Amino acid sequence: MGSELDEFVERVNERTDIHSVVSRYVPLTQKGGRLWGRCPFHNEKTASFCVSPDKGFFYCFGCGAGGNAFKFLSLIENISYFEAIKLQAERLGIALPERRSSPEAERRRREEKTLLRINESAQDFYHECLTKTARGEVGRKYLEARGISMNTIETFKLGYAPDEWEVLLTKLTRQGFSPQQAEAAGLVAKRKSSSGYYDRFRGRVMIPIADVYGHVAGFGGRILTGEDDANPKYLNTPETALFNKGKLLFGLDKSSRAINKAGAAVVVEGYMDAISLFSAGITNVVATLGTAFTPDHAKLILRYARKIIFCYDSDEAGQRATIRALPIVQAAGAEVYVVKVPDGKDPDEFVRKHGKAAFEELIQNAETLIDYRLNYVLARADLSTIGGKVQALQDILPAVAKIEETTVLSEYVKMIAAKLILDYQVVTDELQKFIAKENQSVRRSESKPQTVPGESLPPPLQVASENVLRMVWHEDDLLDYVLMVLPRETFSTTQQEIIDWLKQCMIQEKRADELSAAEELSEAANAELSRILLGGSDEPRDTEIKLFHDSIRALEKMNFKRKYKTLLIQADKYNSSSDSEAYVKTLKDSLEVKGKINKLQSNN
Ligand code: CTP
Ligand code: MN
Repeated sequence: MGSELDEFVERVNERTDIHSVVSRYVPLTQKGGRLWGRCPFHNEKTASFCVSPDKGFFYCFGCGAGGNAFKFLSLIENISYFEAIKLQAERLGIALPERRSSPEAERRRREEKTLLRINESAQDFYHECLTKTARGEVGRKYLEARGISMNTIETFKLGYAPDEWEVLLTKLTRQGFSPQQAEAAGLVAKRKSSSGYYDRFRGRVMIPIADVYGHVAGFGGRILTGEDDANPKYLNTPETALFNKGKLLFGLDKSSRAINKAGAAVVVEGYMDAISLFSAGITNVVATLGTAFTPDHAKLILRYARKIIFCYDSDEAGQRATIRALPIVQAAGAEVYVVKVPDGKDPDEFVRKHGKAAFEELIQNAETLIDYRLNYVLARADLSTIGGKVQALQDILPAVAKIEETTVLSEYVKMIAAKLILDYQVVTDELQKFIAKENQSVRRSESKPQTVPGESLPPPLQVASENVLRMVWHEDDLLDYVLMVLPRETFSTTQQEIIDWLKQCMIQEKRADELSAAEELSEAANAELSRILLGGSDEPRDTEIKLFHDSIRALEKMNFKRKYKTLLIQADKYNSSSDSEAYVKTLKDSLEVKGKINKLQSNN
C-alpha cells in the first residue's frame, strides 16, 4: 500500500462510527456498554449480535462473525474489504486518492478503455442500422414479429448487423481504430486465405451486453433465419479483456434498482427471455450468457438482493442447469427459489401469451429450493428397487440437512419417507449420519467463517487465553514474555495465527492494528480477535494486570498438567517393558513437574 492510500484509509477509519454503519442494516438496542441486535449473518430469534461502539467492533455470539466496521460492510454487502472502505468513504463524502498504478496496470486500463470505445461505436452503428436504414428493415420485421416494441429496442439499444463482410470494419477504421483493435474487441476476425479482416457479426439482430455500470462489454447476435451448424442461433463476442461470461449478467445494468427494490432477482437463460420480461414490466430480471451460473454471478446479484429466483427453460437441459446452479447460489448465502414455466414454454413465450400478471403469479408460487430438489429427484428416481430409493434419499439429504426449523424438518422427513416408501426411522437415521459426516468435514476445513473459533481449549482456559492475548494486543512488548512462559501450542490454532501475525509485525516493525488485522488475518482469526477485544472489561488497569497474570498461571498449570500426564503414561510403559533406568528417570521428571504444579497452586 502506498502511503497516500494509507492516509486515505486512516481518514475513513477515523470518521467511521460502527454504530451508525451497523444500524443502517440492523436495529440495535443499548444494554450496558454495548448495543445488541439480531445477527444479520445467521437466522436467530434472540439477539446475540453485539456492537461495542468505543472499541469499534461487532461480534455475534451465535455464529462467530466479528470484526470492525469495514468487515461488517464487506460481509453484509458481499464486497471485498477494500471495496467496503471505498463504499464507506463514498458515504462519508471522502474522495479517493489519485491512483498511481504500475505501468502494466496503466497499459491494461488504456487497452480496456479503447475496447470500450470500439464497442460503443459498434453499438451505435448497429443500432442506427436497425432503426434508421433500409438495410435494417429485415431486423425491424424480425423484432416486430417477436412482439418487441420500439421502446424496448431503445431501452436495450438493440441493433442489426448487415449481411455484409466489411461494413463495420470500414466504419471503425474510418473512426481511427485499427483492425487489430477491432479484432481485440472481438468485432472482426482475420481472414484465413488472404490478408485483411472481416466482420464477425453478419445478418444478425445485435444485443449489446453491458457490465453493471452500463459499459458495453460485448454482443450477442441472433440469426434471423434457421440455424445450422455453420450458423448458430446465437453468436457471441469471444472472450476479450472486457467480455467474461462467468462474470457478466445480461440486463443487470438496467435491472439492479428494480432488483434492489423487489429484494429479489429473476434469473433466466436467454437474452430474449430477459428482454421480453423486461418489456412486459417485470424489470428485476437478468440472463446468463448461455453458460453456467457461477459464484461470481451469485455475488453480483447478492449486492442488490438476497433472493434469487431461477426461471430456466422447462426442458431437460434447463432443469439440469437449474439443479447445477442451486448449490452455488445457496453456498453464496442467497435465498433460492425456482419457477417452472408450465407447458414446456420459455419465459419469453409464456409472458407474451399470458401476460405480466400470470408470470407474477408464477413467481408468487415459486418452489423453495428444497421442494424443487425433492420433486426433481423424485420425478427421476427408480422407486421399484431399494437401490433406487437409497440413491434418491442420498440426493435429497444435502438439501434437507440445511433446514433449521425442527418442525419443518420433521414434516419433510415424514413426506420423504412416504414418497420413497421407506421407514420413517430409516430416513431419520440416514439424515443424522449425513449431518454427522458434514460436521466432521466442516471442522476439518479451516477458514470457515461461521465456526466458533478457539474450540480446542476448555471454556475457563479459553477465557484465560483470551485475557492473555488481550493484554498482549494492547502492550505488544509482552509478547516475548508470554511466549517464554507459554509455548505457542498452549493456544488454539486460531489464536496461534494471531500470535504469529503479531510476532511478524514486530519483526518487520509494521503497525498491528484492527485495520491491518482485518486485511491480513483469516476470517476466523479476525472473529476471534473481535471476541478477545470485546471480552475486555472497562476495569482499572491494575485489575487487568492481575487478570493477565492469573490467566498466565492458569495456562501454565494446564501445560504442566498435560506434561505430568504424558510423563506418567511414559513411565508406565517403561515399567511394563522392564526398562527400570528409564522408568526411574521419567518418574523423577514427573515428580518435578508435580512440584511445579503444587507451587503454582499455593501461589494462588
Ligand atoms: N446461446 C448461445 N449460442 C447458441 C444458443 C444459445 O450462446 N447457439 C445462449 C444465448 O445466450 C441464449 C441462451 O443460450 O440467449 C438460451 O438459448 P435458447 O433457449 O436457445 O434461446 P432463446 O433465448 O430461447 O432464444 P430465442 O427465443 O431467440 O430462440
Ligand atoms: Mn426463446
